Amino acid sequence: MKFVACFICLLFISYGESGKYYLQPRTFKLNNDYREFLEEYEKYKMYEPDYAKNYKNETFLKHRALQFERIKAQIKTHNENYKLGLVDYSRKTMPYSDWGPELKHKRLCGARMKAKPRALSNAQLLRIIKGWPKLPNNTQVNNCQFPNPVRDQQTCGCCWAFATISVIESILMTKKNIKTELSVQQLVDCDDADEGCDGGWPTTSFRYMQVNGLTSSKFYPYKNMKQQACRKAGHRNVLPPQFIVKQIEVEFKGDEESFRKLLYRTRSPVVIAAHANEAFMSVYTGRYKNETCPKNDPNHAMVMCGFGTDKFGDYWLIRNSWSPNWGENGFIKMAANNTCGVASFAMYPVIVGVNELDPFLGEIFEKQFRDDNRRYRD
Ligand SMILES: *[C@@H]1O[C@H](CO)[C@@H](O)[C@H](O)[C@H]1NC(C)=O
Ligand SMILES: *[C@@H]1O[C@H](CO)[C@@H](O)[C@H](O)[C@H]1NC(C)=O
Ligand SMILES: *[C@@H]1O[C@H](CO)[C@@H](O)[C@H](O)[C@H]1NC(C)=O
Ligand SMILES: *[C@@H]1O[C@H](CO)[C@@H](O)[C@H](O)[C@H]1NC(C)=O
Repeated sequence: MKFVACFICLLFISYGESGKYYLQPRTFKLNNDYREFLEEYEKYKMYEPDYAKNYKNETFLKHRALQFERIKAQIKTHNENYKLGLVDYSRKTMPYSDWGPELKHKRLCGARMKAKPRALSNAQLLRIIKGWPKLPNNTQVNNCQFPNPVRDQQTCGCCWAFATISVIESILMTKKNIKTELSVQQLVDCDDADEGCDGGWPTTSFRYMQVNGLTSSKFYPYKNMKQQACRKAGHRNVLPPQFIVKQIEVEFKGDEESFRKLLYRTRSPVVIAAHANEAFMSVYTGRYKNETCPKNDPNHAMVMCGFGTDKFGDYWLIRNSWSPNWGENGFIKMAANNTCGVASFAMYPVIVGVNELDPFLGEIFEKQFRDDNRRYRD
């Protein structure tokens, strides 16, 4: 018993010491702003491999401090405009506000489009959705129910895996009352049709799960890197192979009304792929709006879970994988008019016995199944 207690206490001490990088002896002084920033995000920095390697390297830290000052100045100007009511959202510094462009790119290169063989063409899917009745004016939809807190992809460009898994977890909880935390790392290590920390596409990852199943994060936890080998062997599946039978992917081409109808009918969130830029990384509260942001150049997968209208007009509700520090507890509102392409793509899995016979989606699935060989269903 004593031994155990001691061991825990040793662990604690070594954790404490290794965590306080900014307090460790250096031959140079950090500027106060940057030092305060590091103190605020000390815990986060501990997990950042570049920082852990370089916390005594003056060139490195000066470079970081410069990045931080640049972003901080941008945010200051922006927030003055916010107070004057000239912009609809405020910004704040984030644990990664001192990263250079190369490192930031890692968080933004996560969505890479893939070829998509499918039974129904995009035009057919869009035609079906357009045929659904119009939504009543001022319809509000909030499908933002998730069993787990907003996660943090850290320095690995695997937003595609985080977004995919959040949507499946939400569907399992809301339709079957199953609360589980699925393994993102399995997708990063084992899904060879995607590129781990260098990006991937959600529909492709649904296909991986369809063939291989998926275990939980308890067995296969997140490592913030692609490991050399897939370590799935021996872990119990939470999603068995063939549990996911189909993937729906619709490209809306600016038709936001159709996207709203889909979200209204699914009664669950869907995966999206949008364009995220550096400014987006420090969004805090309000409504993100940017008319110059490209609508057809996706680099980041997120979760779309609702929409509505308030005094500023129509908005979309988005959940990200940049930790609860980002936005409002990890969520953000985006202005309608397809800001940054948030309403360009919707991706969604069909899960046996969970949502396959969902009457709200029935029409799409029925047609797709009819045209398909039904090997998974019979
Ligand atoms: C210190 O950091 C700079 C800039 O990141 C890097 O080029 C250099 O190699 C580093 N020096 C050492 C000794 O690690
Ligand atoms: C819904 O909004 C449209 C456009 O603003 C308007 O023409 C229409 O009358 C509204 N319908 C109802 C039932 O309020
Ligand atoms: C919608 O976005 C386009 C392109 O970004 C822009 O030209 C147009 O003015 C926007 N429309 C509205 C109503 O904001
Ligand atoms: C708007 O989007 C463009 C293109 O991604 C980007 O360069 C710019 O920094 C963004 N501005 C703001 C204020 O978000």
